[in-house]
Amino acid sequence: MKVVKPRGTRDFPPKKMHERNHVRELIESLFVRYNYEEILFPTLEHSQLFMVKSGEEIGEHMYVFQDKGGREVCLRPEATASVCRMFVDSLRDLKKPVKVYYSCPMFRYERPQKGRYREFWQVGVELLGSGGCEADFEVIYLACRSMESLGLEFNLEIGHIGVLRNLMEDLGLDESAQDKVIYYLDTGEEDKLVELVGEQIIVDLVKLEGGREILDKAGSMLVGYDRAQKTIKELSDVVGLLESLSVDYTIDLGMGRGLEYYTGIVFEMRVEGLGAENQVCGGGRYDRLIELFGGPPTPAVGFAFGFDRVLDAMKEQGVVFPERKVDVLVAPVKREVWSEAYKVASRLREDFVVDIDLLNRKLGRILEHGNELGARFAVIVGPKELSRGEVTLRDMASGDQSDVKIEELRERLG
Ligand code: HAM
Repeated sequence: MKVVKPRGTRDFPPKKMHERNHVRELIESLFVRYNYEEILFPTLEHSQLFMVKSGEEIGEHMYVFQDKGGREVCLRPEATASVCRMFVDSLRDLKKPVKVYYSCPMFRYERPQKGRYREFWQVGVELLGSGGCEADFEVIYLACRSMESLGLEFNLEIGHIGVLRNLMEDLGLDESAQDKVIYYLDTGEEDKLVELVGEQIIVDLVKLEGGREILDKAGSMLVGYDRAQKTIKELSDVVGLLESLSVDYTIDLGMGRGLEYYTGIVFEMRVEGLGAENQVCGGGRYDRLIELFGGPPTPAVGFAFGFDRVLDAMKEQGVVFPERKVDVLVAPVKREVWSEAYKVASRLREDFVVDIDLLNRKLGRILEHGNELGARFAVIVGPKELSRGEVTLRDMASGDQSDVKIEELRERLG
């Protein structure tokens, strides 16, 4: 019986995993240097967690089912709601701000296509307990530095959901109508948006896109709408910090984001060459989510990379991945010396990546295999040399060979 893997899921052979681990380590080591600490939460959550405020888009695409106890559970479609739940459960007493990161698979029942999977990985950070522009700036800056550390070129787009929400509130649109507007912005269904709001000022505002001058334009457009104006000032403060650290950006006041919990700054990163699914990062501020889950009012901001798309982008932009390296292949010349050869391998494994023949092959075949592995050295173990406490060290590139005392091997391998 042949069983295929579910649509939209993937297997990752060793070479792929090597590349993925390399990239994950680069990103995570940067997060650690910014003093973010790793957390993990269940793959399975109560579906209610994401129904509350994640939005129509996520709700439609969730893997929901009943467990054997009749409870409605889901495979997590994203991490932010889980992190907020976890904050309420176990992180709320930590010193603020709480700075955490995660790297794990998410599940969305979407139509699979290039760059869009049903199981995909996110690597992200959440900064909980700071409501200032410094926190907004830090997460955006960290996302940019992460991309740079991978050698990726990207475009950063910044918006502010609060500008639009405050304006809509002043115009009398209730929360569900506001959510709908933001949903249409995210899906690009502008005609529906116009139909729904009927207010020219909203339609004009969401079209504003460009550099800092956009903020002045929005400012004059919003005269009389004080709360919306105040949020423009918030955006301007973050932009000021980004400019002072030489970060390029585009402002897009029509940025929707597919998730409903955002309350302030939102941002996305896009890369060239990935076709339609070119958004490699999304994030923003969600100041009310923790409270919604029964916690104390706690402002929060974060982002997540679509890790699979980051990898695709690196391939697309010609970033070279380091080869996995095998330092040494140990070659026992006959079965009788295999256990002694294994002892030599074990010692070397304290410092090097070492493989040993496990197929009882002839020396010539073992060396061929060493070449296939890209091993730098072969350590040939024969009975004669062993009786003198020696092995033969072969440089695989040049073919040079010499007998070396076993206790000097480690030094010789460099
Ligand atoms: P999101 O924009 O829904 O935000 O997802 C973040 C990233 O995950 C996207 O930018 C995209 O690169 C990737 N992604 C989304 N769906 C798929 C898919 N089907 N296949 C491959 N990659 C995908 C969030 O999930 C928020 N939790 C981000 C956040 C963290 N906001 C604040 N903190």
